[in-house]
This record gives sequence, structure tokens and C-alpha cells, in this order.
Amino acid sequence: MVQAAVMGYGVVGSGVVEVLMQHTESIARRTKEEIGIKYILDIRDFPDSPFREKFTKSFEDILNDDEVKVVAEVMGGVHPAYEFTRQLLESGKSVVTSNKELVATKGAELLKIAKEHNVNYLFEASVGGGVPIIRPLSQCLAANDVIEIAGILNGTTNFILTKMIRENMSFADALAMAQQLGYAERNPAADIEGHDASRKISILASLAYGKHVYPEYVHTDGITRITLEDVAYAASWGGVIKLIGQVKRLEDDTLDITVEPMLIEKSSQLANVDDVFNGILVRGDSTGDVVFYGKGAGKLPTASAVVADIIDCVKHLKKRKYFDWADGDASLVKPYEETSFPVYLRLKTDISKQALTEKVQTLFPNAREIVRANAAPDEYAFATEEMTVGAREKALAALEEGGVQVLSKIRISDL
Ligand code: HSE
Repeated sequence: MVQAAVMGYGVVGSGVVEVLMQHTESIARRTKEEIGIKYILDIRDFPDSPFREKFTKSFEDILNDDEVKVVAEVMGGVHPAYEFTRQLLESGKSVVTSNKELVATKGAELLKIAKEHNVNYLFEASVGGGVPIIRPLSQCLAANDVIEIAGILNGTTNFILTKMIRENMSFADALAMAQQLGYAERNPAADIEGHDASRKISILASLAYGKHVYPEYVHTDGITRITLEDVAYAASWGGVIKLIGQVKRLEDDTLDITVEPMLIEKSSQLANVDDVFNGILVRGDSTGDVVFYGKGAGKLPTASAVVADIIDCVKHLKKRKYFDWADGDASLVKPYEETSFPVYLRLKTDISKQALTEKVQTLFPNAREIVRANAAPDEYAFATEEMTVGAREKALAALEEGGVQVLSKIRISDL
């Protein structure tokens, strides 16, 4: 019997215990070892839990117990998860986690410590919840040069946008529903402002390109400014709005990496990824497009990925899996102002439509108007050609000087 411990008994932690307990026999068959849970660390009391004997409030109980070989860190947040993980790896225990914030901010360092101590630090659950993506990217697609990764990486925001698109539901009602269903982060700002997706794309980029791409290098914008008017314009244009995390390698070898809402054509493989589902497209030079799809949030899907990592650690107790990336810096990433793509713009103005159209055509050559039913008479929407963010902002400043208000600007994707 190999002993494991679980740190954090929240949504994911309780799921990990449930999955491990329910699948004890089938896991033992596959692993050739039974896996037991010796401790569950949490500062709260759970007197009615069937596992109450296993609870401890002391991290040292786990750290100092030589029988414990694998620890699932599902506490979330950077501190004290970072300090605990470091100490566990240094003491020769493998650690698995769903904690994308920790992996995205300290991954290179923790992977290095794991390597030095010949143990594993695995984080399949940190991206895509129950969708396998970390292992496929680092193993199955390893023969490819990854040209691009683009994904719907946050279940909560995808759920909210789906409700807005399909049911005309308000943003606030949809968010409340996602929270009730246990999809949202403890602080929903991490979901709706794009930080959760930013951490996930930074992990995928680090894996794909071999150097740590920290979340602060990722241009990040969430969905809080998306309105039902934008949703209607996207439909007239022929698509939907999705929050996309994307990284592309550019010709000069820098990365265009971003999290932002994007207009996606209806025919795109990502356009029909709805509700809490995640969809991740990996474009390889040999494979072409490969798409991963499944539940990206929720207790059991995420717990399933954590338990899979525990099983992998148990199978690799003696020989560590090869798995790491080097440290990286800001020079890996193209400054956002220099990146180039088309956008949808929605304006409000008092000047005549003809005068506005002329101004728009001068500042945005080949702009294409987008029309929707029941639009306010002072509203004007159009799609630009591909242009750099810097050039676009200059053109928009010129429009604003002429009394035009910019209500929305959303990237148009080429996915
Ligand atoms: N809050 C996250 C989401 C949970 O909605 O995708 C899974 O990482």
C-alpha cells in the first residue's frame, strides 16, 4: 500500500478523496499497488465526515511521515501552497496539484526542485479540469513544433457567455448561477477578469515552448465589458463571442500570447464549445489541428485529473518522469501594442452616419459595417482589417477627438 495525503478539503479536495475511495480496486489493478489516504489537511473541522479520523490541521504530520509518498495539493492560492510544496519535494515526496496559480507563478522553480530530489511535480488538473492536455502536450505531441495553442480555458466565463448568447440572460444572473454550481473560483474576479485563463495559457505556453512564460507577460482582458448588444452584433457578423487564451509563435520567434474575448466564426471548432466545457486547439507542424474537449471545471472532472497524477506518481516512485521547463523572461513575448489582428468596434456618435462612415473609412481602410436589428440610431459597428494594436489605438484616439465614443472593441480571431 502506498500512502498519500490530500491538502485542502474544498470542492476539488473532497472530490479527490471521493474518487480515490470509490475506485480503490480498479486503481489498485492498474497501479499494481493499493493507494491509501493517510491524512487530509484542512484548517476547518469536519466532525460528520466518514473520513474524520484522517483530518489534521498540522502540515508537519504529513511532512514528517515517511510513509506518505505522494501529496495532492488542492488548496489553491500561492501561499502557503508554495512553501508546503517546496518542503514536500525537498523531503522526497511527489506532489500533484490542480493549483494553476502556483504552477503559473512558480512552476519552473518547483519543477527544478522536483528534479533535484528525483520526485515528480505533476499538474494535469491545472488546465482543462478533466480534459487531458498537459500529458498529451508534453508527451503525445512532443514530436511537433507547436505553432499555436488556442483555447476556451475557463468554464465559468464560457458558461456565462453561453447563457448570454442562448438565453439573453444578464451577466450577473449567469455568474450567480455558475457560482452556485461550484464552477467559479473562490474569488470570481479571477474568472471574469481573465486571470484564471491567463494562468492556464501561461502553463501551456511554458510546456510547449520550454521556457517559463509568466502570467504577467500575458495581455489579459476578461468578459465584464461584454454586453448583449455585442452578442447580437457577433451573431450578425456570423459568429459568437468566446473568451480565448491564445499563444502563437511569430516569425521573429517571439510569442503573441493573450487572453481576451474574441469573435469566432460559427464554423470554427471552438464556436460550439459551450456551457462549462473547455476546448483547446493545438496546431502542430506535423499533426495539423488537434482539439481537446470536455468539462473544464467542477468537482469530479478536476478530481479525476488529480487522481490520475497520483496514480502516475505511484507508478514512478523510483524513476522520475521527464518533465520540466527552464526559467523565462519578458523577452519571450511580443509587446501587445505590436501584435496585429482585426477587431470589431462599436461606436456611439452624434454626428451624421455619412460623416461617421467617411471618418471610419479614412482611419480604418476597408472597414466593413456590421448591422443588427433594433440598433440605437446613434450606434455604429464595423470590422477592421488586420492592424497593430498601436495603430488601432491611434486611429481610435482620432475618432474620440472628433466626439465619437468607443463602446466596444473585441478581437476577431482567425481560428
Ligand atoms: N474557475 C475555473 C473555471 C475552475 O471556471 O474554469 C477550473 O479551473
